[in-house]
Amino acid sequence: MDKIVVEGGVPLRGSVDVSGAKNAALPIVAAALLAEGDHVVRNVPDLADVRTLGRLLAHMGCQVERNAGERRALGIRVPSAVTPEAPYELVKTMRASVVVLGPLVARWGQARVSLPGGCAIGARPIDQHLKGLTALGAEIRLEHGYVHAFTPRGRLEGTVFTFDGQTVTGTENVMMAAALAEGETVLRNCAREPEVKDLADALVGMGALIEGAGTDEIWIEGVESLRPIDHTVIADRIEAGTFLVAGALPGGDVVVKGAVPAHQEALVEKLRAVGAEVKEVPGGLRVVGDGRPRPVDVRTQPHPGFPTDMQAQMMVLLCLADGTSRITETVFENRFMHVQELQRLGADIAVDGKVALVKGVPRLEGAPVMASDLRASAALVLAGLAAQGSTEIQRVYHLDRGYERIEEKLAPLGARIRRVKA
Ligand code: EPU
Repeated sequence: MDKIVVEGGVPLRGSVDVSGAKNAALPIVAAALLAEGDHVVRNVPDLADVRTLGRLLAHMGCQVERNAGERRALGIRVPSAVTPEAPYELVKTMRASVVVLGPLVARWGQARVSLPGGCAIGARPIDQHLKGLTALGAEIRLEHGYVHAFTPRGRLEGTVFTFDGQTVTGTENVMMAAALAEGETVLRNCAREPEVKDLADALVGMGALIEGAGTDEIWIEGVESLRPIDHTVIADRIEAGTFLVAGALPGGDVVVKGAVPAHQEALVEKLRAVGAEVKEVPGGLRVVGDGRPRPVDVRTQPHPGFPTDMQAQMMVLLCLADGTSRITETVFENRFMHVQELQRLGADIAVDGKVALVKGVPRLEGAPVMASDLRASAALVLAGLAAQGSTEIQRVYHLDRGYERIEEKLAPLGARIRRVKA
């Protein structure tokens, strides 16, 4: 297994490019299952999770080609018949595989998709996906660890459905299914994440009739068929956010090219509150880290609130603050696994349930640490950059699920970071 080694304590300076958004690319690639033919999804990041979804589509009988015609374009050929099945072996490595469920049942009338099972950051049920699809007329049975869904009437039917709680992939699954249902669907209490909006834009490009994506109410007029996708994925706001935090570390000055200011409002507000200077520049955002950060309180919330996917990275900054910060994680129940690793670097953090009290220390010190999940790994890289001495991060495969060769992006900023191949 690869490791990443960081010799920390060097402030970052320069500019870095943001890749396409993993969490937009995944549902958009899955949306290809809504239409037979040749699809192109552009600006798809080269990540382990995208490759897993590619393998899943190939398992169903689709042909998937990377760098189709241009760099980072994914070509998907959906044949006239697919095997509508997502096996456990693939779903267990990537929960987001569940986004094939809505397209399969809507377009192919049936689906057999493995239940995702446990996850390091929390229970992560999919009851809302299933409730929404049932409201559209799908019949759903859970058998032997699999969701079996089919359309007893041949086609799904429009409905009015209110999610019990906001769910990103749940909104995406039900919206995709409704795009091919007969008649009108109104979805309420939808997730408002930019990735939901990007998926809706891709679906509209396929001929779907959808309004309101990006707000909590989405209206969909079902159509009989859709044409293949040709869509360019938005920039990854979490990768961008991770680089913004890197630039906000003491002494940093980083331009994050491709960062979309409208997607970063909650993070930028907190970065300014800790004392970093954040400015819009042509094509991105520039962040200048001041001296020691000021403490701030952070509460994760669905978009447009502070993203849970940035909680671990923000914690690193607050570990160095001149005072005590309170971080409340409201989205997932078990998303503080990075705390123990940060403590190994000298951080002073106490967790009580959903709340982490972070008492700032003047410096962190390098140590060997272990990544536990994707965003926790990114936090350990940031902590390694800030720490004095050498930090060795193991289990880098977590990082590779969501960051495109992060070491190659950080090194030109002056980071002393390298990957040690296993
Ligand atoms: N939830 C339910 N029932 C459901 C669905 C969700 O109770 O049917 C709960 C979850 O347990 C959680 C909350 O609702 O407490 C929000 O979960 P959500 O469904 O929104 O998460 P997700 O769709 O599974 C996506 C991202 C995650 C990101 C979350 C929250 C993708 C592929 N994944 O997950 O990204 O943390 O939204 O913003 O879009 C990551 O990229 O590192 C990552 C984990």
